[in-house]
Amino acid sequence: MDKFLIDGPSKIKGKVSISGSKNASLPILAATLLFDLPVTLHNLPRVKDISTMLNLLKSLGSKIELSKDKKTAKISNNKNMKTFASYSLVKTMRGSILVLGPLVAKYHKSKTSLPGGCLIGARPVNYHLSALEKLGMNYEIKDGYILAKSFGKLKGGLIRFPKITVGATENSIIAACLAKGKTVLRNCAVEPEIKDLTNFLNSAGAKINWKGRTCTINGVSSLNSTNYSVMADRIEAGTFCVAATLAKGTLEINNLDPKIINTELNLLKKTGAKIKVSKNKIHINGPEKIKSIKNIKTNEFPGIPTDLQAQLMVLMCKAKGKSSITENIFENRFMHVAELQRLGANITTKNNKAYIEGNTKFIGAEVMSSDLRASVALVLAASVAQGKSVINRIYHLDRGYEKIENKLKNIGVKIKRLKR
Ligand code: UD1
Repeated sequence: MDKFLIDGPSKIKGKVSISGSKNASLPILAATLLFDLPVTLHNLPRVKDISTMLNLLKSLGSKIELSKDKKTAKISNNKNMKTFASYSLVKTMRGSILVLGPLVAKYHKSKTSLPGGCLIGARPVNYHLSALEKLGMNYEIKDGYILAKSFGKLKGGLIRFPKITVGATENSIIAACLAKGKTVLRNCAVEPEIKDLTNFLNSAGAKINWKGRTCTINGVSSLNSTNYSVMADRIEAGTFCVAATLAKGTLEINNLDPKIINTELNLLKKTGAKIKVSKNKIHINGPEKIKSIKNIKTNEFPGIPTDLQAQLMVLMCKAKGKSSITENIFENRFMHVAELQRLGANITTKNNKAYIEGNTKFIGAEVMSSDLRASVALVLAASVAQGKSVINRIYHLDRGYEKIENKLKNIGVKIKRLKR
């Protein structure tokens, strides 16, 4: 397994261009299963999770033509698509469950593997299943697979999600596009990635409208060919903003609409960062002394994203004074705490709350990545630590951050990939 060697502390300065959003690309790619005509997608990030989804689509029969830079894909489905999503592909990426809705909506059957466990929490798919059931999907669980079918077309219905969930909202919207009649989804997740999915579907003739957390979908009989550019990755952008704030850095962050990380930028301003935004750009200057924030809480959009929680924890370690972070989305998302302690952090946790002492002088050490965002938090901490750090199991990072070591090198981090 590849490792990163980071020699800190780094001076962060320069420009960074944000890649396409992984979490927007995944549902959009899954939704291409609804189409008879070709779809062209631009600005896909070159990360492992996207290759996994493309492989899953290929295994179902889609033809994928990638551009030279692999950021544009033309996807064409044939007349004899398969409906079997195997465990070997689904287990490596939970987002694969997003093929269930479109397969049943379009082909009226599917055998999709259950995604299985995950380090950050149990992450069941019960809300995906109950919502699709309300649209007319019948299913049973057998040998780790969801065996699903519908008698002809799905039928529009009224669904109120008992809990706000990104994945189940996406699966239901995609499925409802080809259902007969009107579907009303209440208490939806409204993350920008979901809006990007609905913009994509509407660009192909779907009839989707939003009012607050209510999404109304009027089913259509088929979708048109379309050409769509995926939004920028707000978590990658937030991560680089944290990096600049952490390291008294000066960064110009390009290629995104700053509005998508408004909440995060307001939080960073409170820590002392100086931020200017223009149309597709953020200028950020880290403060001399980082101010601590008493109680940061992760929440559904428009709250602070759970996917930025680990990075913000690193920032609070370097802040002047005590702080705390409450994780409200996943039950076990503090795996990075023990590793940050190896770098010198003083953090205690109780249930879903972490108490951070602040004023940490990180010292380089060997650490282990546990999940995507925990790994990037370790990279941030190692970048400002005194001395050398080795970060193991960086395949987690490769799942979601495009060319992260090149981007970090360009802004002054001494980082090297050690191939196994
Ligand atoms: C998506 C993102 C992930 C992000 C998360 C929360 C993708 C590919 N992944 O994950 O990066 O951290 O949103 O913003 O976009 N839940 C259930 N039953 C269900 C579905 C969810 O209990 O059927 C629970 C989950 O365990 C979790 C909470 O609901 O505690 C939110 O999960 P959800 O919003 O569905 O996250 P994902 O779509 O898996």
